[in-house]
Amino acid sequence: SSATRPSGHTSAGTLDLLRAGYRFMDEARARWGDPAARAAPVRILGRRALLIRGTDAVRFFYDTTRFRRRGAMPWFIKAPLFGAGAVHGLDDETHRHRKQGFFLTATTPDRVDALVDVVDRGWSRALHDALDSTRRINVYRTAIDVYGLALLRWAGVTGTDDELVARARRLAGIVDGFGVPALPWLRAMAYRRDCDAWFTEQIDRVRSAPDWPECERHNPADLSIVELAAAHRDEHGQLLDAGTAAVELQNVVRPTIAVCRFAAFAALALAEHPELVGRVRAETAERGTTVGGPLARAVAHEVRRVYPFVPMLPAKARCPLHFGGHRIRRGQRVLIDILGTNNDPAEWDRPDVFDPDRFVGVAAGEIENFVPQGGGTRDRGHRCPGEGITVNLLAVTVAQLAQHDWTMNSRGHRFPTGRMPTRPVGGPTLRLVR
Ligand code: HEM
Repeated sequence: SSATRPSGHTSAGTLDLLRAGYRFMDEARARWGDPAARAAPVRILGRRALLIRGTDAVRFFYDTTRFRRRGAMPWFIKAPLFGAGAVHGLDDETHRHRKQGFFLTATTPDRVDALVDVVDRGWSRALHDALDSTRRINVYRTAIDVYGLALLRWAGVTGTDDELVARARRLAGIVDGFGVPALPWLRAMAYRRDCDAWFTEQIDRVRSAPDWPECERHNPADLSIVELAAAHRDEHGQLLDAGTAAVELQNVVRPTIAVCRFAAFAALALAEHPELVGRVRAETAERGTTVGGPLARAVAHEVRRVYPFVPMLPAKARCPLHFGGHRIRRGQRVLIDILGTNNDPAEWDRPDVFDPDRFVGVAAGEIENFVPQGGGTRDRGHRCPGEGITVNLLAVTVAQLAQHDWTMNSRGHRFPTGRMPTRPVGGPTLRLVR
C-alpha cells in the first residue's frame, strides 16, 4: 500500500483476527495509526489486503467491474458455511442467472408473507407453552425450533416434525461453529457433510418423482423451494448437479434459521430498553396483529445495525485500483468492514446508542452505508436476497416477545466479542411473568 502511514506500526493479520474476533477491525485501524481511517492495510492468510469502510467504501466495493468474488473467501470459512459451488463465490453471468432464477424467485414477498404467518403462530405457541410449564424460554434455542420447523415445511422438504427440528439444529450448528478454529469448526464441517447428503436426497426425491417432468414446466411461483432448486437450470440450460442444488437449497434455509442469532440480540435489546416493550405492545394492540408493525420493524433494523454478526466481507481486485490513497494490486483482497460501516461515528448520529426511531418511516434498504446484509443491489450484485425474510421474521419475533412481561438472565447481557459469531450468553433465557 502506498499511502503514508500515520505512525509506524505493523498491520494486523489472520492470527489477530482469530484472537480479537469482532475487535479486529478497530484494532487494525489503531495498528495502522488512525482509528478513524477509511482504509487500513491488513494481512489475510499472509497476503496484503485493505480493510475499508463508509459510504464511499460501499460504492467502491460493490462495483462488480472492479471486484470479483471467485477465490476471495478463505476456504476454511467457505467450506463449512456456504458449501462447494455456492452463489456467494460466483461472478458475472453465472452469478446473475442463479441469483435471479433461484434466490430471488425463492424469496418473493408472497412467499415471505406465508413463512412469517407460520413463524408468528409458532412463537405464540412457544411462549404460551412456556407460560404453562417452566415459564422459562431460551430465545436462541426456541427461535431455531420455531424458524426451523416453519421454514423447512415452507421450503417443501419431507420428514416428521422431530426430524425437521433436528435438521434445523444442525444447520444452526454450522453457523455457530464455522468461525471458531477448534471443536466447533470440526463439528460445523461434520454437520455440513451430513446436511449436504440429506438435502441431496431431497433433490433426488423431487427429480425421481413421477410428476417431475411436469414439475419442470410449471410456473416457478407454483413450485416449492426444493422443487425450484431441483429444477433450476444454469445459463447454458443445464440442470445443476444434485450436490450443487442441495448446497443452494441450504443457502436459503441455513441463513433463515440463523436469524435466531438476531432474535437473541433482539431479546437483549428489549431487556435493556424496557420502554420499547410497552411501545411495541401498544403498536400490536392498535394494529390488531403481531405481523408487520413499523416500530417492530425499526427495532429489527436497529438490531441488525448494532449487534455483531457478519464482521466483514472479502472481494478480489480485477485490476489495479486506488482507494483512500492506497494502491491495490490486481488480485489483492479488499475487505468491506460491515460492522464498522454500520457503526461509523463519521457517518452515523450517536452510533453507539440503540435507537430504533432512527429507522421509523425510513426506507432502510436505500441507506447506502447500512449494510448488515451487504450493500449494492440484490439482482446484479451480491447483496443478501434474505433481507425481507430477516426483517420480517425479526419484527414478528420482537412483537411476540413484547406481548409478555419477563425478566432476562443477568449473563444474557454479555456476549463475547472475541468469538465469531457471537450471541448473548445463555440464550438469553427469559423468565416469563404470568
Ligand atoms: C449474502 C448477511 C439472512 C441468503 C449475504 C451477505 C451478507 C449476508 C453480509 C453477503 C453480501 C455480499 O457478499 O456482498 C445475512 C445476515 C442474515 C442473512 C446477517 C441474517 C441472519 C439470509 C437469509 C437468506 C440469505 C434469510 C435466505 C434467502 C443469502 C444468500 C447470499 C447472502 C444466498 C449470497 C448472495 C450473493 O452472493 O449474491 N447475506 N444474511 N441470507 N445471503 Fe444473507
